[in-house]
Order: sequence, then structure tokens, then C-alpha cells
Amino acid sequence: MSGTRFARFTGRTALVTGGGSGIGRAVALAFAAEGARVVVAGRGRTALDETVALAAAAGGEALALVADVTRAGDVDALVRETVARFGSLDVAVNNAGIFRGAGPVADVPEEDWQTLLDVNVTGVFLALRAEIRQMRSQPGGGTIVNVSSNLGPHKQARGLTAYGASKAAVSALTRGAALDHIADGVRINAVSPGPSDTAMSLRPGESPADRAARMKELSPLGRVSSTEEVAQAVLYLASDAAASVVGTDLVIDGGAVL
Ligand SMILES: NC(=O)c1ccc[n+]([C@@H]2O[C@H](COP(=O)([O-])OP(=O)(O)OC[C@H]3O[C@@H](n4cnc5c(N)ncnc54)[C@H](OP(=O)(O)O)[C@@H]3O)[C@@H](O)[C@H]2O)c1
Repeated sequence: MSGTRFARFTGRTALVTGGGSGIGRAVALAFAAEGARVVVAGRGRTALDETVALAAAAGGEALALVADVTRAGDVDALVRETVARFGSLDVAVNNAGIFRGAGPVADVPEEDWQTLLDVNVTGVFLALRAEIRQMRSQPGGGTIVNVSSNLGPHKQARGLTAYGASKAAVSALTRGAALDHIADGVRINAVSPGPSDTAMSLRPGESPADRAARMKELSPLGRVSSTEEVAQAVLYLASDAAASVVGTDLVIDGGAVL
């Protein structure tokens, strides 16, 4: 691809769940810009197609596959289809996630709790399982980056306990799976973003300008992280430069207090 400073992923296939928006889209475009064949997955076809079009417009190669990460059949088919199309699965980024269940624990509806666990925890487990099974069976193995959060594994804040608990599980899955499978040639790590430039970090009714003012006051860095900044951390962990980085959880939160 012209105008690229590095092309660390030429000839490799990268799968990004939740690749139709936000951090996942930035990750997908960053991999495509560095030569990877990218598969973006999620539930909404239109958003995925937009990411594919953006990658193509920048000279990259991407494919959209509809899949719900809470369904084992979808996730297994996603990995199968990726390999059928591109020959291998070298990099996977388990980024699909949701925010629900704000409020003190006593007021969190069971339905919100269950949905959080289904998407943020079971979704990552099912994806890890399918990806590892593929990667350990192919020459060269593979590498996986899970998208966790600063909230839960690293910090806690009032009213965000349910989401934080789901993300603490993602970080625990990352560390455990990394130890289980490094000897199989599968290297697993996580990134833990703080408030980032997507709709997820907006409070109810808050505009991006309101959020910027809140960040100026609350965040030591004074702003949210851009999705590109999070993407570059993911690419580092997936790159050969991180070959001895196993089971780490890289916090990207501008020193955020929450
Ligand atoms: N933004 C932040 O401040 C922040 C901070 C810390 C951590 N994170 C984490 O970063 C990740 C990306 O978040 P974001 O801010 O980029 O939000 P986002 O734009 O809402 O992205 C989430 C993506 O996940 C997909 N998704 C949701 N449920 C799914 C399911 N069941 N199956 C497949 N895909 C599903 C969504 O697509 P569909 O709805 O079309 O399926 C969407 O593309 C999440 O794991 C989030 O928890 C974000």
C-alpha cells in the first residue's frame, strides 16, 4: 500500500471482531494499511461493509463476515470461512464488546448482567477457543489480542461494577489462555483502553464537546485516546517486535483515574 511507513503484516490474515465501528474499525484499517488481509466481523452488515470500503479506498484488502460472538456456531464458522478464503488465521483481535448495567449493583437488572456476560465474556471465550484451535494446527501458529478495559482489571468506579466485572474476566481469560497456549505457538495478550473516542465513552445525553470538557478536568492526559492510538498498541502486540510479550495487558488510558 502506498504511503505506508511500515508493512509489518504483509501476507498475514487478521480477523477483527466488532470491526464495523469504533476501535475495531481503526484496528482493521491499521492492519490493512500494513499489508494484512483483514476480516471484519460483527452483527451489522452495513457497518462492516463500510469498513471494507474504507480499507479498499486506502488500497487495502478486507472482507466482511456477519457473526454474533455469543453463538459458538457463528464463531466457529467465522474462523472456518476466514481460513477458507485466505488460507490461514495469523492474527485475531477480539474487540466486540458492549456497555450495559450502569448503576449500583443493587439496581442492575439481571438481563443487563446476563447480556454483558454473554457478549463480553462468553464472546471472547468462544472466539479464543476457535482461533486457538485453528492457530495451533497451522504452521507458524498465530497471535491474539483481546480488547479489555482499564475499568475492572485495573481500576474501579462507582456505578460501573457490572461492566468492570465483565472486563476483569477478559483480562483473566487473556492471562490464563496465554499460559495455556504459548507452547502451542499461540501468543495472547490484551489491551485495556480507558475512555476512547467512540460513542461508548459518552455518558447518557453527553456530546463529544461535553466529554472533552470532562476529560480536561478528570484525565491526567486531558483528553480521550483516539481509536488510532489504541489500534497502534494492538498492532505492536500482534507484531514480531512483541515476540516475547506473553499474557500482558497494556493499559492505554492517559493515566485516567477512572
Ligand atoms: N470506547 C471506550 O471508551 C472503551 C474503553 C474501554 C474499552 N472499550 C472496549 O473496546 C471495544 C470496542 O468498543 P468501541 O468503543 O469501539 O464501541 P463500539 O463502536 O460500540 O464497538 C463495538 C463493536 O462490537 C460489535 N458487537 C457488539 N456485540 C456483538 C456481538 N454479539 N457479536 C459480534 N459483534 C458484536 C458491534 O457491532 P454490531 O453491533 O454490529 O454487532 C460494534 O462494532 C469493546 O470491547 C469495549 O468494551 C472501549
